[in-house]
Amino acid sequence: MSTNERTSAREIRLADYQAPDYLIDTIDLTFNLDPIATRVSATMHVRRNGSHSRPLILNGESLKLISIDYDGEKLSEHKFALTDRLLTLPDVREDFVLTIVTEINPAANTALEGLYQSAGNFCTQCEPEGFRRITYFVDRPDILARYSVAIIADELDYPVLLANGNPVSLESAGEGRQIARWVDPHPKPSYLFALVAGKLTALKDTFITQSGRKIDLAIYVEPHNADRCAHAMDSLKKSMRWDEETYGREYDLDVFNIVAVDDFNMGAMENKGLNIFNSRYILAKPDTATDADYAGIESVVAHEYFHNWSGNRVTCRDWFQLSLKEGFTVFRDQEFSADMGSRAVNRIQDVNMLRQIQFAEDAGPQAHPVQPKSYREINNFYTSTVYNKGAEVVRMQRNLLGWETFRRGTDLYFDRFDGQAVTIEDFLQCMSEASGKDLSQFRRWYDVAGTPKLRVSDARLPGQYILKIQQEISGSEPYMMPLDVALFTAEGDPIALDGTGVLVQTLTVCEMHQSWSFSVDVPPNIRIIPSLNRGFTAPVEIHYPYDQEALAILSHADSDPFNRWDAMQKLWLLTLLERIKSGQNGPSESEPPLPEGLSHAFGQILLESDQDPMFVAECISLPSEKYLADQFDENIPFEAIHRERNLLRRQLAEVWESTLLLVYEKNQPADHYRYEPRAVGQRQVRRLVLSYLTTLDRPAWLQLAVTQFDRADNMTESFNALFALSVRPTDVFERLMARFEERWRHDPLIMDKWFALQAQRTDGDALERVRQLMGHPAFSLKNPNRVHALIGSYARGNLMDFHAPDGHGYQWLADRIIEIDGFNPQLAARLATAFNIWKRLDPARAILMKEALVRMNERPACSPDLSEITGKSLG
Ligand code: PHE
Ligand code: ZN
Repeated sequence: MSTNERTSAREIRLADYQAPDYLIDTIDLTFNLDPIATRVSATMHVRRNGSHSRPLILNGESLKLISIDYDGEKLSEHKFALTDRLLTLPDVREDFVLTIVTEINPAANTALEGLYQSAGNFCTQCEPEGFRRITYFVDRPDILARYSVAIIADELDYPVLLANGNPVSLESAGEGRQIARWVDPHPKPSYLFALVAGKLTALKDTFITQSGRKIDLAIYVEPHNADRCAHAMDSLKKSMRWDEETYGREYDLDVFNIVAVDDFNMGAMENKGLNIFNSRYILAKPDTATDADYAGIESVVAHEYFHNWSGNRVTCRDWFQLSLKEGFTVFRDQEFSADMGSRAVNRIQDVNMLRQIQFAEDAGPQAHPVQPKSYREINNFYTSTVYNKGAEVVRMQRNLLGWETFRRGTDLYFDRFDGQAVTIEDFLQCMSEASGKDLSQFRRWYDVAGTPKLRVSDARLPGQYILKIQQEISGSEPYMMPLDVALFTAEGDPIALDGTGVLVQTLTVCEMHQSWSFSVDVPPNIRIIPSLNRGFTAPVEIHYPYDQEALAILSHADSDPFNRWDAMQKLWLLTLLERIKSGQNGPSESEPPLPEGLSHAFGQILLESDQDPMFVAECISLPSEKYLADQFDENIPFEAIHRERNLLRRQLAEVWESTLLLVYEKNQPADHYRYEPRAVGQRQVRRLVLSYLTTLDRPAWLQLAVTQFDRADNMTESFNALFALSVRPTDVFERLMARFEERWRHDPLIMDKWFALQAQRTDGDALERVRQLMGHPAFSLKNPNRVHALIGSYARGNLMDFHAPDGHGYQWLADRIIEIDGFNPQLAARLATAFNIWKRLDPARAILMKEALVRMNERPACSPDLSEITGKSLG
């Protein structure tokens, strides 16, 4: 059987959805924990759904079946059929009680799915299909059951025993073991099941809900991390309050527990009442975590908490509905972060992410709709499209309906579907009922892959400004989207629209060709500059023939901070793309002059650092090499991208050197570290400014970075100094890196920053350095965080070396992926998306990268996870 036959045989399609043949109303689980032989006993009430005589089919993987009891009688072997994935009971009653005993080996579970061990403790990960590695079950999200759990374990090794829901009892079970009982009153899908057992300490707190109920909160970590939980706890309480105030959603159990584990494939997991986190999204104190870490913790803690309603109380009918919970929850956590910090900067960062990752995904071989129509391995669909584009699609509904109407829609949704497993259609239906709007055209956003492009042109008539918009999309059905626009004069003054005081209009774009005419009171000799898609109201690419002058004006005068930033980005792109294209065959003999408009805009923005340092930091951030590479459909000129980007940065630093220094000095934050917006902005603008200054060949600026490193009492400032120095090889940089390593080598989470920085260095033999670092005592191929920090950062963050013309980067990465695929297929599949780009490479590189892909894809042992990615990539 060829690879394609092997994988296509497993394709699962949305169109084939059928309601389950059997429902399971309750499940009582008893775990007898042991690292290599855990006994799981599951007693379920099963009932036939509808009238049919089909067999009961249960999923199960990597399980050792010990016994089956059917209504109290042991089921003999000829009464069921067992394969390595399914347990079939052909002939069952209308309703019955089934008790299944299985044995599993958590210590051997390296895939980090199901019940596994991390740092000697037990934990679980069941989304999307991990529960079938714990017991035989109808493992699909539309089976909602009430769970009760008993955990029996050695009381010295596993003093803390946690499961979903509320605690019932903790007693001795004799022989040095104890038994904990938990009951979750809310019916839930199996993917939300969780259990934790281990030597953990907790930071405890309480929260009083809006109706006056007291909730016990706890964050469990390994004892040596006890002093790193305060920020996560603070974020949790803020999230709980925010969801009450913003969506009217109150928490619904007596306890809310979070556990941080070091070995985790993703960011975190919203298990009912027992969230399990990758420790990188919990642990922080000023000297160990950067501002970016603090922000990540705040948003992921919020995200998982918000799932309690958007995901848990109302869940997904099937995995094609994944964005129903993820897109909505990302939108919720984005708005939460915007309320906690700077709304403008949050929007800029979210859109920047979307453009760099989701737009690229949508333009490549893994492109899929927000609601995919088929999959082979659902783990491959936890993507930026489902999450981030999904969030944009919910945001558009908020914008089209307005907040109040949207909120009526969410109330209706939570109310009507509480305790049910539903579809994206159901969500849209609520929005449509709440607003009286027909959203059938809007549905297209969920159904079709690809980033729509809007071609915009304009014209003037006496007293009139005309805007024409054309949708450039595959297919003939136009999208519906809100598009905020405003107009500015060449002086940067806002123009009143239609003789009113209104400056901004929300256009509803819904036809292939559409035009709008605004009456404006502007003399014909004064230029009108449109500010389009303000706040990025629609996740589209806009094509309008902006020139340097217009962009420079918008970057300065636009009243929408997002569009100011965007104008700056477009200004960078204009110059950089032109230089890259003309420099594709090598550097030009003399340096091209720095464009006046760009330089002036840069200088003007620097002067604003007093008001909003964080915004300034965003505006002076050059587009990444990755984003520049994405602008090329073929023959991506990696060397020219790297060279021209660095050159432009250095030229700007030369011109603005003294202003940069001034900004650096003025933004010295207060003496002790605090995570609050202004101080974060100050540190961030210093990071940027410093990395401009260090591109200049001046010992004084290197010394500035060294001093910052020496004086810093927090990780943000010390790591930013390292970052600024990493731009080019120097002895000081090596010395500081060595000191950093000396101080932190026993703390792998912190060493991840160091690994990532090493992996991205372009000086010397980068791959050789990465190879050596794989032997570093803090590195482990088994840990996903380490792998992403070192291997992922090399493949994604070191375009120069990864894409070296001899193909060494491709071959080496393929070897690592093959190795990892042997024990953690999800991790392997994620890394393999670095190869999506191969068709856009020049022919010589493309052949080399394709060879690496073929080599991974053709291995008989290739996992379904990896082969779906490599297969699609090869197309
Ligand atoms: N559902 C998790 C979230 O988005 C992500 C996740 C998916 C975690 C699969 C683990 C496994 O919050
Ligand atoms: Zn989520």
